[in-house]
Amino acid sequence: MKKSELKEIKDVLFENLFSRAVEKYIVLDSSFDILMSNGAALGVLGYPADISGRNFKSFVMEKDLPEFDKFIEAVNASDVVKNFKFYLLTSGGAISRFFLSGTALRAGNGVMEGYLISLSVSNPQEWASLKDHGMFFQFITRKLGKLTSLGKLTSVFAHDIKSPIHVIYSTAQLMNSNAKLDENTRESFAVIERNASRASRIIKTLMDFSKSGLCQLRPGNLNEVVENNMEMLGTSLKTSKISLKKELGKLPEVYLDANYVSSIVYNLITNSIEAMGEAEGTITVKTFKDEEGVKLSVEDNGCGMDETLLSNLFQPFFTTKEAGTGLGLYLARQVMGEHSGDLRIESRKKEGTLVTLVFKRTV
Ligand SMILES: Nc1ncnc2c1ncn2[C@@H]1O[C@H](COP(=O)(O)OP(=O)(O)OP(=O)(O)O)[C@@H](O)[C@H]1O
Ligand SMILES: [Mg+2]
Repeated sequence: MKKSELKEIKDVLFENLFSRAVEKYIVLDSSFDILMSNGAALGVLGYPADISGRNFKSFVMEKDLPEFDKFIEAVNASDVVKNFKFYLLTSGGAISRFFLSGTALRAGNGVMEGYLISLSVSNPQEWASLKDHGMFFQFITRKLGKLTSLGKLTSVFAHDIKSPIHVIYSTAQLMNSNAKLDENTRESFAVIERNASRASRIIKTLMDFSKSGLCQLRPGNLNEVVENNMEMLGTSLKTSKISLKKELGKLPEVYLDANYVSSIVYNLITNSIEAMGEAEGTITVKTFKDEEGVKLSVEDNGCGMDETLLSNLFQPFFTTKEAGTGLGLYLARQVMGEHSGDLRIESRKKEGTLVTLVFKRTV
């Protein structure tokens, strides 16, 4: 084979192995300037144009730079390092988590020429199951696995289940409108109708959740999320005996998915409203910052919970309400896990409940 032919084959091989690869590759020189990156890497970082010439450290958040140095140290020491958990800045100021693997690129004489970095997008299950390599964030290894399987299951079955449930619901409704029914039969149809309606709400919640997928964390202000919810819920409470108060502190921005956090806050306030029953009561929504991070709390003086209830309330589908899905707090905790944050509950029967969301990733 002629040398030129071999070169051609090598070029084709390179084109297929690097440029068109599904794996996300970035090649750095020894001072971390980007020499080349393939389409898959650009795609996952959300950059349409070539990023050659930029320094890889500009994709790392400033406070994580010491961890990046540790990663490089590890590659220098052992040539190959796999699956470091890492957050990178993607386009538009968002952050995404990746598993970072690094391979040392050495010349024949052993001199370090640069690095091959490969990025893999983590799913929550892998992310949670991998031991932290002493990396920069403490991760909460909660039941994220369940969330993933729930997501998969939902997208496969929910659509198919939705239609039969709708048929059950509307048939029960139709039967119930028949004037000749005796009271017992009418009540039985009403039970069918109420339960079909609950089932369809469960399906809707699951479908919404599985459709939107993982959280997109962007800098945002928690106070805005609270204000939006207060507006929505405040109007409907005007005529009730419940007073909804807010005490909003001065906050730095945090990395959050405003849509998800908003639905958590909505559920927390709704839970508090429902805990009041017919009684008078006060719900206070607070935001503040302390040494742990930025916090949002919802406090009520409603019915409160006993130990048994408290130990069950994060189970999916656990509810004490006829129309409840029992997914509100379960999903809220998953979502806070996605934020590397926390959800805490303190409650006393007949006294009230305090729920606190903790955001540890300030901008
Ligand atoms: N503030 C609260 N005070 C008293 N009990 C609460 C409070 N918040 C939650 N609970 C209890 O925890 C259970 C689970 O709450 P969760 O939000 O997960 O589901 P749900 O409210 O029952 O259903 P959905 O959120 O779909 O309306 C509730 O049924 C209720 O018994
Ligand atoms: Mg709820």
